[in-house]
Amino acid sequence: MAGGFVSQTPGVRNYNYKLTPKVFVTCFIGAFGGLIFGYDLGISGGVTQMKPFLKKFFPDVRKKMQSAHQDEYCRFDSQLLTLFTSSLYLAALVSSLFASTITRLFGRKWSMFLGGFTFFVGSAFNGFAQNIAMLLVGRILLGFGVGFANQSVPVYLSEMAPPNLRGAFNNGFQVAIIFGIVVATIINYFTAQLEGNIGWRISLGLACVPAMMIMIGALILPDTPNSLIERGFTEEAKKMLQSIRGTNEVDEEFQDLVDASEESKQVKHPWKNIMLPRYRPQLIMTCFIPFFQQLTGINVITFYAPVLFQTLGFGSKASLLSAMVTGIIELLCTFVSVFTVDRFGRRVLFLQGGIQMLISQIAIGVMIGVKYGTVGTGSIGKSDANLIVALICIYVAGFAWSWGPLGWLVPSEISPLEIRSAAQAINVAVNMFFTFLVAQLFLTMLCHMKFGLFFFFAVFVFIMTIFIYLMLPETKNVPIEEMNRVWKAHWFWGRFIPDEVVGVSAAEMQQKSV
Ligand code: BGC
Repeated sequence: MAGGFVSQTPGVRNYNYKLTPKVFVTCFIGAFGGLIFGYDLGISGGVTQMKPFLKKFFPDVRKKMQSAHQDEYCRFDSQLLTLFTSSLYLAALVSSLFASTITRLFGRKWSMFLGGFTFFVGSAFNGFAQNIAMLLVGRILLGFGVGFANQSVPVYLSEMAPPNLRGAFNNGFQVAIIFGIVVATIINYFTAQLEGNIGWRISLGLACVPAMMIMIGALILPDTPNSLIERGFTEEAKKMLQSIRGTNEVDEEFQDLVDASEESKQVKHPWKNIMLPRYRPQLIMTCFIPFFQQLTGINVITFYAPVLFQTLGFGSKASLLSAMVTGIIELLCTFVSVFTVDRFGRRVLFLQGGIQMLISQIAIGVMIGVKYGTVGTGSIGKSDANLIVALICIYVAGFAWSWGPLGWLVPSEISPLEIRSAAQAINVAVNMFFTFLVAQLFLTMLCHMKFGLFFFFAVFVFIMTIFIYLMLPETKNVPIEEMNRVWKAHWFWGRFIPDEVVGVSAAEMQQKSV
């Protein structure tokens, strides 16, 4: 039968280890990498609503917002303003490609450090911006920072974590992202009330705080055993493995890492090799998972929740407050994933979250459609508006324990060492490209597709849920260097994995797993 539904995940090993304070603290600090991404995601939407900011940099947009527009759907449509938000993601896309080489050759921690550093410089440009040029240079530097951090941090966490808790540890990255978003929305809420230019300057300038946290964090962090072996520091790698696993008996895991590294040495050009048929499952997943993650439509909420709430007739303060509430719900619900992802597995969360998002999106589309119709005039009563906010929260909760964290976890854990950095760079690049597209096009889409926009995203959520059901095998508890066995046992992907990679034929693997 189709589906890669295996009753027993192949490749599961029972390595010897304890949950040490060292691995816990290391991953905690490593996860800081998500803060810069989150802070930026959360800060831009609010800043672009601040009148002094608009007056200084985008006076035309401000005039348009002031004029009593007939069509509520189009009130905030401005390409220039959205370019401010989305330029960062193009920069992140480019830098993630360079980051993969640094991550591979110099280790994961130096990519993290560079990420923090460029983000730090970018925050200074933005906080002190005198003109649009400074603002854009700042955005691009911030983007470089995000690209480096997003390329290296998920891989770092997945490699450090003990295999059967990899999901929980890796989800720390998403927790940090959302924490960054929530802190940013809270800061915006207060700075929006300040007179003059100081408000937006504080909001943008404070990005230096998470930047410093990741810089300092990266300096004190050790590198992963996988990366140490990859770079020829075999002795150090063994000691590192012993200290993070809390036992000297790490021979089996260590040997698996060394074998993986030996195999990866045959591969000279990760970028060329990832195109080979034997890496087809990883290539397809690292392209489709980030694509689908963005096509859930989550960033419509992340970037534009305040705008969306204003479109629904909320006052500007109430809109910022509602955006804060959705952020806090997202944060809390991400912990559901942290605590269940290694027990129930990735597939269950993906499928449940997908169905929840689908139902709530359809309901939101129907409600907005009924109230505003296609003309975009009309108004929403208080109770209906509250119902829409509640539906948005249900949608956000579904994302928070599925596509949010898993969109970073799964791509970081499915690739063998020889293509891991390249695969993660593709993941970040695709993610950033579609983050850019959604950020850039949402307000225009809202203006033209009106409430149909929610159905547009719902169609994608439907497709992605089917995709996961059929194509994604379960990866919980499987050591990261044993992942080939999982692909080999899958009803569809098995044919791409050569027998010698896992030492058995696809038929045997599938027999073992059903
Ligand atoms: C996504 C972002 C999103 C964030 C918060 C992340 O996993 O990659 O695009 O803004 O979650 O929802």
